[in-house]
Amino acid sequence: MDKILVLDFGGQYDQLIARKVREMHVYAEIRAYESLCCADIAAEGYKGIIFTGGPDSVYKEDAPSFDRKIFSLGIPILGICYGAQLIAYLLDGKVIGAQDFHEFGRTDLSVEENVLFQDVPAQSVCWMSHSDYVAELPKGFHNIAHTDRCPHAAFADSDRKIYAVQFHPEVTHTEYGRTILQHFVIDVCQCRQDWIMDDFITASIDKYRHELKGKKVIMALSGGVDSTVAAVLLDKAIGDDLHCIFVDHGLLRKDEAALVEEVIRNRLDLNLIKVDARERFLSKLSGVVEPEQKRKIIGEEFIRVFEEEANKLGDISILAQGTIYPDVVESGKKGSALIKSHHNGGGLPERMRFEKIVEPLNDLFKDEVREVGRKLGIPAELTDRQPFPGPGLGVRVTGEITAEKLHILQEADAIFREEIQRSGNASLADQYFAVLTDLKAVGVKGDARTYGYVLALRSVTTDDFMTAEWTRLPYDLLETVSNRIINEVNEIARVVYDITSKPPGTVEWE
Ligand code: XMP
Repeated sequence: MDKILVLDFGGQYDQLIARKVREMHVYAEIRAYESLCCADIAAEGYKGIIFTGGPDSVYKEDAPSFDRKIFSLGIPILGICYGAQLIAYLLDGKVIGAQDFHEFGRTDLSVEENVLFQDVPAQSVCWMSHSDYVAELPKGFHNIAHTDRCPHAAFADSDRKIYAVQFHPEVTHTEYGRTILQHFVIDVCQCRQDWIMDDFITASIDKYRHELKGKKVIMALSGGVDSTVAAVLLDKAIGDDLHCIFVDHGLLRKDEAALVEEVIRNRLDLNLIKVDARERFLSKLSGVVEPEQKRKIIGEEFIRVFEEEANKLGDISILAQGTIYPDVVESGKKGSALIKSHHNGGGLPERMRFEKIVEPLNDLFKDEVREVGRKLGIPAELTDRQPFPGPGLGVRVTGEITAEKLHILQEADAIFREEIQRSGNASLADQYFAVLTDLKAVGVKGDARTYGYVLALRSVTTDDFMTAEWTRLPYDLLETVSNRIINEVNEIARVVYDITSKPPGTVEWE
């Protein structure tokens, strides 16, 4: 199997690069630049290397860099943004930062004839995000693209197969980004397009069978897509040494606890322990209103429950989780900023009893996880389920969480989901749910004044949950939902629809 190394210098979009390459059915592996050396790269037999972007300036002290011998390995290289500047810098070109020089966002790009730009029109639109720029090319390189402001928007040493683009071909805003990456991977690196998810599955099962041999692993199982797929994958690797713990923290959707238990125990035949921790979570959350604090408390309590269960099971020092890539990046990976502590990532308490955490899916996007799930034979009703956050309804009740508010939310949320499915509009949305706000509003029912909660409906359409549009649900459907909720859930006086996209909003409210 041919593979591409995505050498990570701390960019925001490095996973998108790997994802775009994998969509071509070529395996791509992301490795942090500090985690390997030239000898490792040579030994791995990569067919090509992509240098990612990064938040630094190449000429800063301690800026991410690499041994310049990498250029003598004879492996084709493509540098993107910071990666392009690093190529110029390491090969004695000139990179500078000027105070008034910035290019951000959509930018007109003019390209010249080059293997990378086959089928790319002379003028197109690319996505730029940089302040430094390459002012002088290194010896042996020629310029192959420019923008109004950037003289060297792309450059190449075709003989040595080293290419550099200042723009980001991996983001969808670069019109011909996919084509450009494809030319690098297929035409320059000559990769065979034979990588499929089956390979990921086989490789993961082999890896964990070997790595976890004879060890007991405790698995956080929520019944959501991610943890279920991770559990089934690990079950195939280590069987009964995997102990799945399903914590009913009382923050689940209506009837969910019973449903999850039934499917996991009876249909997937996993080694399952169910823990009823409803009271325990509620008492820890009592009086807490700040979203990050809620997340931390829920994350911490989860771990405590696991620890206790692990103790009961004997010597267990490994915890498995269904973390996927968007959880990792939004929990503040390296250069990227902390947006919210996802339960499966940054929300974990620092002093954990577990020696090791296993996250078999932390390199995959949601749609890839679903594909793995289908291939593992998990029923579609589970693999196609919409995502549900680890902290559950805890991040969908704003203000203090109480048993009463949770009950109100569960009822209203069930109506919303039921009506979307009944109306046949479920395919419009990738995630939809209700949020119980802490606001109250006045209404009128019959002839009487009412004063009750404001409930928000949220529905988003997205590919990867890193960006999302609010779903254009039909007005009639929204009206039916609103009527039913006001009529059937007494404590709710008003229903509103959230029309915020991500960014600037996030999918969840907290
Ligand atoms: P946000 O709110 O960050 O959500 O835009 C993006 C996606 O992630 C889900 N989400 C979580 N998933 N643990 C999870 O496993 C979490 O703590 C968590 N917080 C948000 C959210 O439902 C959406 O699908």
